[in-house]
Formats: sequence, C-alpha cells, structure tokens
Amino acid sequence: MEERERGTAKPTSRRAFLRAGLAAGGAAALTGEAVAAPKGAGNPANLPPNVADWSRMLGDGVAVRAYGKPSKHEAHVIRRDVEWLTASRQSSVSFTPIHELDGIITPNGICFERHHAGIAEVDPNDYRLLLHGLVERPLVFTLDDIKRMPRVNRAYFCECAANSGMEWRGAQLNGAQYTHGMVHCVMYTGVPLKALLEEAGLRPNAKWLLLEGGDAAAMTRSLPLQKALDDGLLAYRMNGEMLRPENGYPARIVLPGWEANMWVKWIRRIEVGDEPWHHREETSKYTDLLENGTARRFTYVMDAKSVITNPSPQAPLRHSSGFTVLSGLAWSGRGRITRVDVSLDGGRNWRPARIDGPVWDKALTRFYYEFDWDGRELLLQSRAIDETGYVQPTKSELRKYRGVNSVYHNNGVQTWQVHKNGEVENVEVS
Ligand code: MTE
Ligand code: CO
Repeated sequence: MEERERGTAKPTSRRAFLRAGLAAGGAAALTGEAVAAPKGAGNPANLPPNVADWSRMLGDGVAVRAYGKPSKHEAHVIRRDVEWLTASRQSSVSFTPIHELDGIITPNGICFERHHAGIAEVDPNDYRLLLHGLVERPLVFTLDDIKRMPRVNRAYFCECAANSGMEWRGAQLNGAQYTHGMVHCVMYTGVPLKALLEEAGLRPNAKWLLLEGGDAAAMTRSLPLQKALDDGLLAYRMNGEMLRPENGYPARIVLPGWEANMWVKWIRRIEVGDEPWHHREETSKYTDLLENGTARRFTYVMDAKSVITNPSPQAPLRHSSGFTVLSGLAWSGRGRITRVDVSLDGGRNWRPARIDGPVWDKALTRFYYEFDWDGRELLLQSRAIDETGYVQPTKSELRKYRGVNSVYHNNGVQTWQVHKNGEVENVEVS
C-alpha cells in the first residue's frame, strides 16, 4: 500500500477494479435485464438467464470420490519434466507448476520431485532407521517408535540446489515451472533430530552426521551436527498426510533453508562422526565450479530468491490493457523475507510489492503488485530482500563472482518480457 501513497499505482478498490475490468472488456456488465457475455465464455446455454447443466441434475454421491482430486477442468495443473534434462529412472526431476498456484502452500500431488534412482516403495512395517556411530547407545527406530515421540509442525520451502541451474549461461527454459519450479513449500510434521540424537546420547567428539537414504541410490550426505541440533527434523507428514512415496515415505530429513539434496528421503541410516565423509554428492556433485578452476564446497544455504509466477511464459496476460495483478514467490534460506521489489522496465525503476499471507521463517512468501498496464511491452523483474538485509543479485552480479560453470545456487533476478499481445518470454537484460 506504500505504492498508493507514492502515487505510483492505481487505487485498488473494488470499484476501480470493476471500472478497469470493464474498460478492458474483462468483466460482465450487469445492465438489469441482459448480461453481456465476457470474451471467451463457453456454452451460452449455461449462461444466465439460462439454468446451467450442472444445476439440473443430481451430482455424484460421496463414495465416488473416496480420495478427492481437482476438477477435471484443472487437469493441466500438473508436474512436468523436460525430456532432454533428466527424465530416466536413473535420474529424474519433475517441476512444480508454480504459475498455476497461489498462496504459499504446495499441494502434495504437485510438489516437484528429484530422484537419483527412482521412487523407493517402502513398506512401513519393514521400515527401520539406524542411528549409530559416536553415540552412547546405537538405536534402531521403527516408524511406530518415531510416531510416539513428541512432534512439531513447521512449514518450510524445499529448493533443489539445481533450481534455475539451466539458466547460468543465458535464458533457456520458457516457463516459471521449468526455471524456478524445483521448489515446494509444505507443512511438515516430524520429530526434531535433536530429540533422536539425545535418545542415543552424543559422544563428546561428535561433530558431523552421515545421512543415508533407503533408495537404490543410497543418497548420502554429510551434515554438520550443529544444523541437526538447531532445527533439523525427521519428518513423516506433509500437509497433514503421511509423506507421499515420491517425497520420501515414510520418513525424510528436513533441513530448513538448506539445499534440498541434503533432505535425504526414505532415510535409513544416521551415523554420528567427527568429520565429513566426502561422498559423491558433496564432491563431484553439489559443489560450485568457479572460473579459476576451484570449487566452492559445502554451500548449504539457499540464498534469497524470487520469481514472478504470473504473468510468465506459461501464464500470459489475456487482456489487452488495464488493471493487472502481478504475483510471485520469494524465499530465503537465511530467515524471513522482509521486502520484495518489482520492476516493470528491466530493473531501471523498482517499486515495493505487497506481501500477503503469512511471512514465515524459511518458507515461501507470496507477493502481489497491482498496476494499470498501458498495453505496452514490459520487462518484469522481482528481487527479494531478507531479514539479514541480503538483496537478491542480478544475474550479471552473480556471474561476476561465480562465473558460468556452476549448475547450483543460481538465485539471480529473473526477467520476463511481456509482449504487446500478452505473450511472455524468458529473456535477459544486461
Ligand atoms: N534422497 C534420496 N534418498 N534420494 C534422492 O534421489 N534427492 C535429493 C533429495 N533427497 C534424493 C533425496 C534431491 S537432489 C532433492 S532436490 C530433494 O530430495 C527433492 O525432494 P522432493 O522429491 O521431495 O522434491
Ligand atoms: Co536436488
């Protein structure tokens, strides 16, 4: 609302919205008798003053939908993959349709997935978690043991370190789903890792944990003990339900703000040690190769980032001008988002966006920017600022320091070019 005070945006009252909508031919005008059909409307037989099909017949009873699904008209709201990227059972990734969502919580069925050996189908009766190494009492937990422990509920974003990884050398994938969709945000229920470790009793020289997954890849990462004690979770529910098989059923590691690769799924073993293990996923992978040939290692934290989800290439503008709601997501692995700025002209001028909904620590944060579109070409950008004062860098700022050899940790500012016809394209501005 600072916007309005600065006189940079049109008032956003409902009356103003309707006027703008009418001007653009986007809303139906109620003229007493007749209703003007909005552009692109479907079957006239279903429109007022007629009684629509669905109002004339009995609908399904309850048993038909024992587990509910979205409307068949929303069948396009799905995870998608990129065939030439990694879509085999040995290595696969699907992307969250972030351009089709609002608010901050990702529905369970469309959370992006990343598997190094496909989805392990774990029988919960046979599930065991071994906790051993530098502990007083090595322990084996069943799922029931874990569920009997005191639990907490926390919503966090989970972002693959490779999110936006294909964009290092230039704009490539045409859609927010593909450039930024390796992120989801759900409410986890689980047991603090601290409680599990206390149960086993840490030896004085304990400093690192080894996390090992129960899939055929046996995904393995070293984790500084302190992070586990601070806020690490052994999660078994997402958004109230048990974890989905693709997200680690029946139990996974949750490490708020840290790269998702370390959030080991189908977790089967935690070893306590005094130094890191230097496994594949922390040496040849998930390290950041710099211009001088050295690589950054153990770059755990996901720095502040944002993206405009609407409009975006898969969600073009459908009106020719007038009142427009721009929306997007911001997040930071270092804490809360304190501000998001939006630019309509490729970063020359910035205006604060309106944040709406809960602003939670290390969770997705929703922002909006309402403006009157004059129908001309736009270069849309957003930049996130977090509670540490960190400002999301432009891509060229990032490349100055990181070069272009990296795959991981690309949090540069995204640019969408909106053409006069409303179509949107992934571009870069220098
Ligand atoms: N854990 C196991 N056991 N196997 C895996 O392949 N992939 C990791 C991580 N944990 C992986 C894993 C990577 S790279 C990511 S990005 C996240 O899981 C993805 O979590 P999601 O599938 O719930 O989105
Ligand atoms: Co990943």
